[in-house]
Amino acid sequence: MKIVEVGPRDGLQNEKQALSTAVKLELIRRLTASGLRSIEAGAFVSPKWVPQMAGSAEVLAGLDLTGPVAYPVLVPNEQGLDAALAAGAREIAVFGAASESFSQRNINASIAESLQRFAPVAARAQAAGVPVRGYVSCVVGCPYEGRIAPAKVAEVAARLLDLGCYEISLGDTIGVGTPASVLAMLEAVSKTVPMTQLAGHFHDTYGMAISNIHACLRAGMMTFDSSVAGLGGCPYAQGASGNVATEDVVYLLHGEGHSTGVDLAALVDTAWFIADALGKPPASKLAHAIGDQRRAKPER
Ligand code: HMG
Ligand code: MG
Repeated sequence: MKIVEVGPRDGLQNEKQALSTAVKLELIRRLTASGLRSIEAGAFVSPKWVPQMAGSAEVLAGLDLTGPVAYPVLVPNEQGLDAALAAGAREIAVFGAASESFSQRNINASIAESLQRFAPVAARAQAAGVPVRGYVSCVVGCPYEGRIAPAKVAEVAARLLDLGCYEISLGDTIGVGTPASVLAMLEAVSKTVPMTQLAGHFHDTYGMAISNIHACLRAGMMTFDSSVAGLGGCPYAQGASGNVATEDVVYLLHGEGHSTGVDLAALVDTAWFIADALGKPPASKLAHAIGDQRRAKPER
């Protein structure tokens, strides 16, 4: 099973409080030490749109980009690609949407325009030996348009695959999906994109993320995105809460008999580390169930 940790990007992009590069690097160091092997480290987007990601080049400069751990970064256009490559990025992700309104609000482009923009980004990245991941946002619902047709998600996912994306991450950006709606969407998408190249990216606004992951797992999906401490949200999707917490996903996967290579206790300590840095408790139940006991120990 593969977990793509998105906390340092999806998690921190939506925090009002901007964290220093040193704290971001310590977060990523701890996530790496817990055994995670793909950790989204930043985004080369406009700092006017998402100021929290402005220091992404500095973050990459502090990481070992040549080792076994992948540190992908988001790239919306060729300008972002230039900056990401200059910073030494070894993996990038382009991010599109299945909703026209969300696409406009998030990246100031229609779906068709965004795919046109991604084409040279993907081609140039691949020519440089940099693998490209693709996101589709609003795969179940959109904050502006409501329900999204599974056929639209399948169409955008197939286009991203055609551009050369090695994996397509299906984002329930506002967390409105339930197992039934998610599986209906997955059935449509998996007709054109093999299940082995699909990932689930669930936000937990309605508390459905773990149920949705369980349903996708049973349907054969093997890659899930998540965020330590359940951090996150999308600045262009008002009311969307954080990603499903990585510690909850790891607990589910281990309970289902899968291995992840992640040390749950170290991950929970990391959840508390970042929660303390942000001055708010972790969103996951697990961080409290396990973490409270671990934190209480020194005082006993
Ligand atoms: P735009 O305003 O249309 O861009 O924004 P533009 O090309 O017209 O350029 C305008 C200005 O932006 C110029 O600067 C450019 O230099 C600058 P100025 O001359 O005004 O000083 N600019 C850039 N600066 C830095 N890096 C760049 C870049 N490109 C242009 N790459 C743009 C278009 C795409 C740039 C903007 O809309 C943007 O940055 N959007 C990013 C929004 C974002 O990051 N959203 C969150 C991530 S998506 C997400 O969270 C969902 C996901 O988790 C999955 C899920 O949950 O569904 C992935
Ligand atoms: Mg997201």
